[in-house]
Amino acid sequence: MNRNALTLKQLSISYGRNMVVQGVDLTEIQPGTLTALIGPNGAGKSTLLRGIAGLTRIRGEVLLGDTLLSRLGPREQAQRMTYMPQSLPPGVAITVIEAVLSAVQAGRSGQPGKAELDQAYDALEHLGIGALSSRYLSELSGGQRQLAALAQAIVRKPEILLLDEPTSALDPHYQVRVLGNVRKLIQAHGLIGMVVLHDISLAARFADRVTVMHAGQIAADGTPSAAITAEMMARVYAVEARVEHCSQGQIQVIVDRALDRAA
Ligand SMILES: Nc1ncnc2c1ncn2[C@@H]1O[C@H](COP(=O)(O)OP(=O)(O)OP(=O)(O)O)[C@@H](O)[C@H]1O
Ligand SMILES: [Mg+2]
Repeated sequence: MNRNALTLKQLSISYGRNMVVQGVDLTEIQPGTLTALIGPNGAGKSTLLRGIAGLTRIRGEVLLGDTLLSRLGPREQAQRMTYMPQSLPPGVAITVIEAVLSAVQAGRSGQPGKAELDQAYDALEHLGIGALSSRYLSELSGGQRQLAALAQAIVRKPEILLLDEPTSALDPHYQVRVLGNVRKLIQAHGLIGMVVLHDISLAARFADRVTVMHAGQIAADGTPSAAITAEMMARVYAVEARVEHCSQGQIQVIVDRALDRAA
């Protein structure tokens, strides 16, 4: 089981001259915990995730314990973390089970055996899409495609799981099922989970820690109730909002109106 925390030190990422992630420091993202990364469109969430995943040039450091992740080769990086992008590549003409099996085999040699096949079917059953196993990726609906991609991301139980808006195409059943299962997986295997979400109530419900990005910087970071406040909603999202607790004690964010964004 992984015991190393993830730390970002002065992480900056630029596209040309435009620095969209600006000296982000995040300490002690602990194994066994789920961090929700939230923030407005264009805040830099996807860019930050791609930076952690080693998919874009960074300045600063991404550390897992004492190990500098950028020093690892692409193969070892791919073994230690999985990253699910916000926009999935178009589905190709392979079946769901073939796709998940190829994720199981990533970085391994030889033919998959019964253990690997069981692992792949388990991932599908967990997400409630066992019935889709022999369907072609290219013939799935948007939400089904997202669930198949999730199965590919979680099947190997990597040390670090980076999911960019994994529930954006899902109905309420699958939203709750996926986040509940991801949380259980993270706790059971001591994984570090980082998930970008736009649904703030969902983030509050499933995440241990909520990190809010705004214009390339961290605008708030802490427990859901510390990070999600009416003041933060106004400052970061330019909305007037109420942060209330439902009859079961969960945080609910109700947005009343859009405020003029500061020029
Ligand atoms: N490939 C690129 N080339 C140039 N600029 C980019 C590129 N990708 C993103 N950007 C810019 O970087 C900034 C951050 O983008 P990013 O995709 O990280 O935002 P985000 O927080 O994920 O937003 P969203 O919630 O809309 O997905 C934006 O201003 C965007 O226009
Ligand atoms: Mg994004």
